[in-house]
Amino acid sequence: MAIERTFSIIKPDATRRNLTGKVNAMLEAAGLRIVAQKRIHMSRAQAEAFYGVHKARPFFNDLCTFMTSGPVVVQVLEGENAVAKNREVMGATNPANAAEGTIRKVHAESIEANSVHGSDSPENAATEIAYFFAGTEIVG
Ligand code: CMP
Repeated sequence: MAIERTFSIIKPDATRRNLTGKVNAMLEAAGLRIVAQKRIHMSRAQAEAFYGVHKARPFFNDLCTFMTSGPVVVQVLEGENAVAKNREVMGATNPANAAEGTIRKVHAESIEANSVHGSDSPENAATEIAYFFAGTEIVG
């Protein structure tokens, strides 16, 4: 299995509750290595561009408002099969459907305030990583 990188966000509901360390511990316990990380406050323009694929969805505006409501921690995670592994440890988008022991089952408040984002494919991971990180900020 190849070593992959994926992009992750610890969302405002989690930073607000001081859960960055707890989320990171769950990522690391799943075998993912945090090879880049920074805490930022996303601008509206950044959130709208990042979630551009969801522009036509009814939840788009609320999602951008939520993602700019407080600090987030953007991350690059590395490991074997990192994209799928991160999606597994995150759990389903809606915490009501998330498996026991997943980040969203344990910590998420709702489908919107769902604590974490993770790339859904290696291609999107590369795009999302490049949106927030320079190559020199990623230390494998
Ligand atoms: P994320 O993985 O960050 O990608 C898009 C986000 O939209 C998703 O997580 C959810 O937090 C948010 N969202 C809000 N409402 C919905 C919805 N009804 N269906 C899917 N995603 C939603």
